[in-house]
Amino acid sequence: MIEKKYGIIGKPLSHSLSPTLHNFWFKKYKINASYSLIEAEVDQIENIINKIKKKELQGINVTVPYKQAIIPFLDLIINDAKETSSVNTIYLNDEDKIVGDNTDVYGFEWAFLNKLNNNDLIEKKILVLGAGGVTLSVIFALTKKRIKKIFISNRTIKKAEEIKKKFPYIEIIFWEDITDKSEDVDIIINTTSLGMKGESDFKEVFKKFKSSLVYYDVIYNPAETKMLKEFKKKKIKTLNGLEMFIYQGQKTFFLWNKINPELDEELKKKIILELR
Ligand code: ATR
Repeated sequence: MIEKKYGIIGKPLSHSLSPTLHNFWFKKYKINASYSLIEAEVDQIENIINKIKKKELQGINVTVPYKQAIIPFLDLIINDAKETSSVNTIYLNDEDKIVGDNTDVYGFEWAFLNKLNNNDLIEKKILVLGAGGVTLSVIFALTKKRIKKIFISNRTIKKAEEIKKKFPYIEIIFWEDITDKSEDVDIIINTTSLGMKGESDFKEVFKKFKSSLVYYDVIYNPAETKMLKEFKKKKIKTLNGLEMFIYQGQKTFFLWNKINPELDEELKKKIILELR
């Protein structure tokens, strides 16, 4: 039987541990398939999608910076991808249509939001940093929980304004003002690529914040970004994106293979070993 091929497209990709995750499960569930990194420029996206049409590739994940840019190349955008206009999982359906779905929303919900008390959560003031593809997933998940106060801040304000068009009740904070705004919020969620392996990190440091603040970073590699370390030193509760990464992968694996893979300790240990 011919080996099935999967992969992840993005740039840069050196941080991605998706191959470790999916190849672990392929082996565990005895599926003849492999998963690799596909570092691609924007003008190569069409060619990669054509490979899926020709069944040379069975499916791909999409990461920074193509979660939105890939949409025009797809035939169908479904479920959370439709709600967020952000795609991280692609495959060919039974009618030979290229489908774009989103498993980041599920990942964020199960790694973070569903672990918190709903009645408490609804009252929280949440500051979301960034305005990329994953930001849309995070804001959509927060919206589903009916959080009353969501702030967004992004270096390029235009992109935050675009997100506000989709979610009008969010409030935009100037990027220059985030370190002041932090005083007032209960949860900060970093959805930018600042601090990711191979990327630059925050220049700003948050000086004023509640002692009960929770800092959530969607980045999982490195396990501790500079910002996360800073907060940890100040005894602030911090969480990285490792669980979100594993949960989004679990749903993607299900969409591709119709098997819901187990999240066992062996897998988590294997991934942690590969982190920077
Ligand atoms: P994705 O769609 O996969 O989330 P993206 O659209 O490239 O990827 O999003 C990356 C996010 O990190 C953006 O919010 C980006 O800010 P800009 O919209 O201003 O580009 C943010 N980001 C990346 N590098 C940054 C930096 N040096 N300073 C501030 N924000 C940065």
